[in-house]
Amino acid sequence: MKICVLPGDGIGREIVTQALRVLEKVGGKYGRTFETEEALLGGCAIDATGVPLPEETVAKCQASDAVLLGAVGGPKWDALDPAIRPEKGLLGIRKALGLFANLRPATLLPQLADACYLRPDIVARGLDVMVVRELTGGIYFGEPRFDGMKDGERFGLNTMAYYEHEIRRIARIAFEAARKRSGRVCSVDKANVLDVSRVWREVVIDEHKNYADVELSHLYVDNAAMQLVRDPSQFDVIVTGNLFGDILSDEAAAITGSIGMLPSASLGESNPGLYEPIHGSAPDIAGQDKANPLATILSVSMMLRHAFDMAEEADCVENAVKQALEQGYRTGDIMQPGRKAVGCAAMADAVLANI
Ligand code: IPM
Ligand code: MG
Repeated sequence: MKICVLPGDGIGREIVTQALRVLEKVGGKYGRTFETEEALLGGCAIDATGVPLPEETVAKCQASDAVLLGAVGGPKWDALDPAIRPEKGLLGIRKALGLFANLRPATLLPQLADACYLRPDIVARGLDVMVVRELTGGIYFGEPRFDGMKDGERFGLNTMAYYEHEIRRIARIAFEAARKRSGRVCSVDKANVLDVSRVWREVVIDEHKNYADVELSHLYVDNAAMQLVRDPSQFDVIVTGNLFGDILSDEAAAITGSIGMLPSASLGESNPGLYEPIHGSAPDIAGQDKANPLATILSVSMMLRHAFDMAEEADCVENAVKQALEQGYRTGDIMQPGRKAVGCAAMADAVLANI
């Protein structure tokens, strides 16, 4: 199994280093070997080559079975021309690999119930949401786009656009995911205002005809944002477009206690999938051994499950994470009184000890 590793910027390298230790340990336990190769993405790529996504990186990713990504971006590159900002590298690799489906599971581990922001009676109802976010279309990529002057003043423009085939394929991913879960999909749009959302809803309803066993509901995005904090237990799978999915997945993550806990998988039709924590590069704590490596370690678990069909190995990693939390180990973002405060490497040590 060949894995292309993109540590990226900020805390990216620390968390990826720890996640790879876990991968190696679980591989050793089950007699699996993983070959890894590094490539540049984001700010570090800009520094080394002048662009956030060098062609060599795309080639290395395409030649691998899966891609593991840390995080990209930081204040150092904020003032750059938007065309070569680190984030462009991330969007570019998603597009280049055709990764149209972004799976972002937000679960509240019982061990972390005390770190959850919601009222205990809401937490008690449970929280296990899978956000299925469209990742290569919508307003992130729509044309025309513009940043400049018009009629003597500054003018900016982006376009939210979806073709039927883009909606159909992400809807299918959501319905398939729901079949393996509680069988419910909520499609989120803004069909009361946006034309693109009316097309979205119409196509989702039509595709649903092939999944009569799955229950389909619809919410406007503003209502969905509210329902997520009011009663997240009502959700199973949420399927939505690129921008709404970006926003709702951060919200879903944060209410579980910490954005430092949640993994993601970005999948396409045939190319290697990309596995990454949903949090950013956290430049404020970079290089200080403070970052929570669990989201990246859990992304490795998603990689084992989805890319390599290694369910047992994936379960082993997930259980080791739960054990480490059970034993009281906490990085700063999930620290609670009476727990054992650890840094990035020591948290990974705790996971390793449970494999
Ligand atoms: C995410 C991030 C990215 C996005 C940024 C860094 C481009 O927020 O993966 O959610 O908006 O998709
Ligand atoms: Mg985001």
